[in-house]
Amino acid sequence: MYRSLTIVCAIFICSSFALSVSKENYITVIVDVIQSFNKPSDVISNVCWTNIYKKKLTANLAAADNPRSIKFVNDIHAKDLVHPEKVTFLIDVRCKDSGGFLNKAASRKYFGRPHRWFIINTPANEVSVPLVIDKMHLLPDSEVYVMQLINNSYSINLIYKIKPNREWIIENYGNWSTENGLTISRRAKKVALVMRRRNLARASIVTSMVITDNGSFADLETLRYKQIDSVTKGGFHQLTALYEFMNASREFVFTDQWGHHVNGTWHGMVGHLADGTAELAGAILFITKERMPLIEYMSHPMESSIKFLFREPPLSYQNNLYLLPFQASVWYCVGSFVLVLIFAMYFSAYWEAKKVADEKQKADDTTVLVPTISDVTIFVMCAISQQGSTVELKGMLGRFMILILFLVFLFLYTAYSASIVVLLQSSSNQIRTLTDLLNSKLELGVEDTPYNRYWFMNEKEPIRRAIYEKKIAPSGSKPKFFDLTEGILQLQKKPFALNCNLGVAYKVMERYFYEHEKCGLQEISYLQNNNPWQAVRKGSPYREIFKIGLLRNAEFGLNDRTNRIMFSKKPVCSVRGGSFVSVSLVDCYPILLLLLYGMILGVMLLLVEILYYRKMNTRP
Ligand SMILES: *[C@@H]1O[C@H](CO)[C@@H](O)[C@H](O)[C@H]1NC(C)=O
Ligand SMILES: *[C@@H]1O[C@H](CO)[C@@H](O)[C@H](O)[C@H]1NC(C)=O
Ligand SMILES: *[C@@H]1O[C@H](CO)[C@@H](O)[C@H](O)[C@H]1NC(C)=O
Ligand SMILES: *[C@@H]1O[C@H](CO)[C@@H](O)[C@H](O)[C@H]1NC(C)=O
Ligand SMILES: *[C@@H]1O[C@H](CO)[C@@H](O)[C@H](O)[C@H]1NC(C)=O
Repeated sequence: MYRSLTIVCAIFICSSFALSVSKENYITVIVDVIQSFNKPSDVISNVCWTNIYKKKLTANLAAADNPRSIKFVNDIHAKDLVHPEKVTFLIDVRCKDSGGFLNKAASRKYFGRPHRWFIINTPANEVSVPLVIDKMHLLPDSEVYVMQLINNSYSINLIYKIKPNREWIIENYGNWSTENGLTISRRAKKVALVMRRRNLARASIVTSMVITDNGSFADLETLRYKQIDSVTKGGFHQLTALYEFMNASREFVFTDQWGHHVNGTWHGMVGHLADGTAELAGAILFITKERMPLIEYMSHPMESSIKFLFREPPLSYQNNLYLLPFQASVWYCVGSFVLVLIFAMYFSAYWEAKKVADEKQKADDTTVLVPTISDVTIFVMCAISQQGSTVELKGMLGRFMILILFLVFLFLYTAYSASIVVLLQSSSNQIRTLTDLLNSKLELGVEDTPYNRYWFMNEKEPIRRAIYEKKIAPSGSKPKFFDLTEGILQLQKKPFALNCNLGVAYKVMERYFYEHEKCGLQEISYLQNNNPWQAVRKGSPYREIFKIGLLRNAEFGLNDRTNRIMFSKKPVCSVRGGSFVSVSLVDCYPILLLLLYGMILGVMLLLVEILYYRKMNTRP
């Protein structure tokens, strides 16, 4: 009885000594491992140790290199997590409260980025996952170190699961022994955590795809119709490299719109990302304030190019061609010159007529200019329009004047008509802003895509609103949303501006346009924030993997490759002026107007004359 008590006592003393030795070692291991992170750390510790050991841990941590603090807590408080990137939780699963602490952390998603965890496991013969967290989902964004005493050596391992309900993946971080201290594995030392976890072992990652045409799904790989759903098809190829990078298998969910906020719920692709159906956005999208809480924008794989595209319209669409050859000052000079001439001719004719009357020559010579204002005006008009005249002035002075008159107008006429010929063939580069576009005679149309429909219909800015209301969807007519090819063909035929994805539009143009038609292409941006981004679900456990994968796509030129396959650059104009443009009704419009006014005036004068004649004849 006494002996056995002694033995029990001895065992107790021995084991408590052993425990205290192991606890001393635990403290050293903890401090060494935390120091090996080489980052500032605020340790939040939930351990059931005696105060002696707590003090010792505090002192040892404080003596280590980087700034570190430690706090012993019984419960998780949000106020301790002010700098989450510094927080390291320290848990001893041998303590009976640890289960509750860990459960609470799991329910608040504290296992995810950027918190770090250091869990002390029960000693065993081989590496194992602590029983209390066996059912929890520590995904690739977690950083959980488990320390375990195995046959006199401390093994430190990182544990995570690729997806919930998959098996644990245990990676050796390092071992600690009294002789060698901490030895960190080469891989953990050299390769960043995310890169070590990028192999998702063919786990399925869901992408949400925006498909507006049933044929597009079959065409994702083959790309035979690049102009249909081009953003989605481009996105599909951009993401192929990412899936290879993380060794994941593809799964898709489909929708037919990018997704907007309607009645408190999100639809379409953004809806899929918001409710967790999908991890990745299959098509790039614009940054808006409403989307910020739901998705994270990762990379910028392609330049946006959704703009109004048009060919420079003929000059006559913007200006009256017939006024352009001369500057305003020249017109004023010509006008006053005509007036001066009329008066000079009048006086000259008057003087000549007087002389003739004095000399009593025969006064009925019909080839002499009669000195009335109307005759003289007609005479000058004949000169201006390069017609001859049956009348003339006989005197020396008169002949000089006629010579000068015809000579001046010959030169003016030559200059004018040469100029008109050039102007008829020129195009106008005066449309530079949305306001110009709004006030121009161009017809406007929009490529029929879900995003265009949304942005145009919901535009608030006055000019853009006016463009939509006056030019694209005037009340009482069908809104002008076109299939891309149809729109491009209109662009070929008439003065027209199409809001479309330029890369794809140029591709279609290469197919249908003649060389000379590729000249004078102009672009004006309509959408205000015009930079689309690749996005992922906010809080995705694979976020860091996506981020690095997408950045690598950009660095390795894979995005560029896809963009070159999917989209075309602006076609070069090699034969400007290689063909002529026929003169259209628009070009002749001012002239026809002049003719019309002249005819109206003629008819009115006729009526006046008839009335006048009647009045004269009815007078007794
Ligand atoms: C620890 O020792 C046990 C029993 O001696 C042995 O079965 C086990 O393989 C050892 N574990 C390691 C990691 O060496
Ligand atoms: C740690 O120990 C385990 C088991 O003995 C061994 O497989 C592993 O390579 C060791 N790690 C290091 C960094 O030495
Ligand atoms: C991808 O995962 C599968 C399944 O785990 C594996 O067999 C394959 O080796 C992995 N591929 C790469 C490149 O790591
Ligand atoms: C696409 O297919 C679905 C079901 O297969 C059908 O309901 C839908 O009308 C089709 N849409 C078009 C544009 O053909
Ligand atoms: C949103 O709610 C309004 C009013 O309840 C309803 O008239 C409208 O149809 C709803 N829109 C959608 C897309 O459900």
